[in-house]
Amino acid sequence: PKTTSLSTKEASSHGNPRDFVAKMKAGKKRLVIFYGSQTGTAEEYAIRIAKEAKSKFGLASLVCDPEEYDFENLDEVPEDCAAIFVMATYGEGEPTDNAVQLMQNLSDESFEFSKGEHRLNGLKYVIFGLGNKTYEHYNVIARQVDDHLTKMGATRIGERGEGDDDKSMEEDYLEWKDGMWEAFARIMNVEEGQGGDTADFAVNEIQDSLPPEKVYRGELSARALTRSKGIHDAKNPYPAPISLSRELFQNTQTRNCVHVEFDIGGSGITYQHGDHVGVWPSNPDVEVERLLCALGLSEKRDTVIGIESLDPALAKVPFPVPTTYVTVLRHYIDISAVAGRQILGVLAKFAPSPEAEAYLRNLNTRKEEYHSVVTEGCLKLGELLQLAAGNDIKSVPTTQNTTAWNIPFDIIVSSITRLQPRYYSISSSPKLNPNSIHVTCVVLKYESAGANIPQRSIFGVGSNFLLNIKYAANGEKTAPLMSASGEPATVLFPAYAIEGPRGAHCEGLTYKAPVHVRRSTFRLPTNPKSPIVMIGPGTGVAPFRGFVQERVALARRSIEKNGPDALNDWGNIHLFYGCRRSTEDFLYKEEWPEYVKELQGKFTLRTAFSREPPYKPDGGKIYVQDLIWEDRAQVADAILNGKGYVYICGDAKNMSKSVEETLARILGEAKGGSAEVEGAAELKLLKERSRLMLDVWS
Ligand code: 2AM
Repeated sequence: PKTTSLSTKEASSHGNPRDFVAKMKAGKKRLVIFYGSQTGTAEEYAIRIAKEAKSKFGLASLVCDPEEYDFENLDEVPEDCAAIFVMATYGEGEPTDNAVQLMQNLSDESFEFSKGEHRLNGLKYVIFGLGNKTYEHYNVIARQVDDHLTKMGATRIGERGEGDDDKSMEEDYLEWKDGMWEAFARIMNVEEGQGGDTADFAVNEIQDSLPPEKVYRGELSARALTRSKGIHDAKNPYPAPISLSRELFQNTQTRNCVHVEFDIGGSGITYQHGDHVGVWPSNPDVEVERLLCALGLSEKRDTVIGIESLDPALAKVPFPVPTTYVTVLRHYIDISAVAGRQILGVLAKFAPSPEAEAYLRNLNTRKEEYHSVVTEGCLKLGELLQLAAGNDIKSVPTTQNTTAWNIPFDIIVSSITRLQPRYYSISSSPKLNPNSIHVTCVVLKYESAGANIPQRSIFGVGSNFLLNIKYAANGEKTAPLMSASGEPATVLFPAYAIEGPRGAHCEGLTYKAPVHVRRSTFRLPTNPKSPIVMIGPGTGVAPFRGFVQERVALARRSIEKNGPDALNDWGNIHLFYGCRRSTEDFLYKEEWPEYVKELQGKFTLRTAFSREPPYKPDGGKIYVQDLIWEDRAQVADAILNGKGYVYICGDAKNMSKSVEETLARILGEAKGGSAEVEGAAELKLLKERSRLMLDVWS
């Protein structure tokens, strides 16, 4: 049969296919990584280690399923190479199915390696184990491999890593790897910063003309391109029409906050109050143009390209192809992020002048310099290429004022990460809005710093994308942020090409953005008798608008069914909300009184306006936590006597901490004790019982 002849051919041209050392040599790979994996987690970590070895040190790896190889020649791994073992422990301390043979070979004291010995002198190895502390035999497989190898004379690089799948696999891995890579660099005699110069992907221009329906122009999945039905999730977001968008701030001179409604009617998407929605943004025009010019691709912007992975085991093409240059830059890769240090060393080789090369090399090799110029200056890749070549980064980029670099697109695609969705707390309830998802988003804009770098406004990609959709959808030409300054509008205010099937008026004048729902556990109790305390200053109020709407819908139904007294035994719904001024950034100002009316006074809104009177006696600002303290009798009663639920949403760094401290004080006092002891114990209990829930971000 065909398969046999194929494998025979393979065997004859490449030698024994079970010989990993031969493969390493043939592929110039200095690392071999074996993974003992049952469900794929260990394999994922193996691939991550391979990628890191490549990006850090430029070392290529052979990632191996141990089942497919023989171990006789483990003693023939060349001296400048190393073996890495990523081993999961399965069940009651057993190896995973694919590692059974490997374990047998290593534990068999009479097992003879190819040099005719039972020794592995000279072999250098790294080991990371995946286990689960709830099981008795935590990580025994990794420990056994470690023991066997040491006994046979091999040298371990760094410490043995152990990850706990029950709790903290990722953190355990992160904590372990830095020390391991340091030891690795020393023992393998390699230096950081050498990596990244090999592309993961090969880009080719497609000359044959393809029918338009075969070329991706921002769609995120094959189903989106063919418009075939299917479940919408992170792998297949739904291009949701924008049914409504409006500004929420009363004063937009310096800040904007957009309310956007995504129409999900007919999409099959469902959601719950408290869920998050992932919105897939695009990059602003100005950055797309800048990079097209800097890469010399302006004229080829619409050329159709295919992209292939050079090593599918290590890296899959992260977005759908065939596509076009401009689509990749606009919709698929994160060109709006601050340029990473590693990539600068790679790009320096393609500099248009010795000065430009030196500029990038300097930033690549000197950490402090990189930080003060690139990080502080918030320099995106396109801007950095312009600066290095002596171009003016503040003018509207054109082929005249932007020097073209000769950087292969393979390298751009290989070294810039994929544009990720931005997650927002949904601010509506599906009971009131079954066909739409509402988002409440403050628009991110700040000023750059940076040593000797022209100062610019920096715009958050996700929120400015939404702001643009708002302008486009409402036919608004002038953006408030634009008129505030005298500089050219295209640079000051990042316009987004709202075109193509992505964010588009492809059907009449409906604008669209790809979205998907991420489930959360941030939910109201089902019983409306439980009192609720919600604390959400700023856009932290977003999910609570959904919560209140949820209760409004329930109230309507109860009243319809049980008459006007239906809400009498409902618990109180307290919302603590804070913003700067009652006339500036008061979100949904006009809606709250209606909710109060519909909920027959069961709902109360307390507001802290931090930048208008009244202030504290010492002149300090009044924040939500001060209001909770003022209302401590009711808050303690709701929590302790009413078995109430507490929700905090918003800033994770300061606000949520202060609010938790205040709650501890209130509960400590109510229990006749202290915040530190009784209060803290009560908070811990509330968290364990999911009666204190947080949806916070930094
Ligand atoms: P401020 O900006 O005037 O200091 C929404 O951002 C509201 O939260 C604003 O009124 C803001 O006040 C306030 N805020 C800022 N820091 C806070 C904190 N640590 N705790 C509670 N509220 C805070």
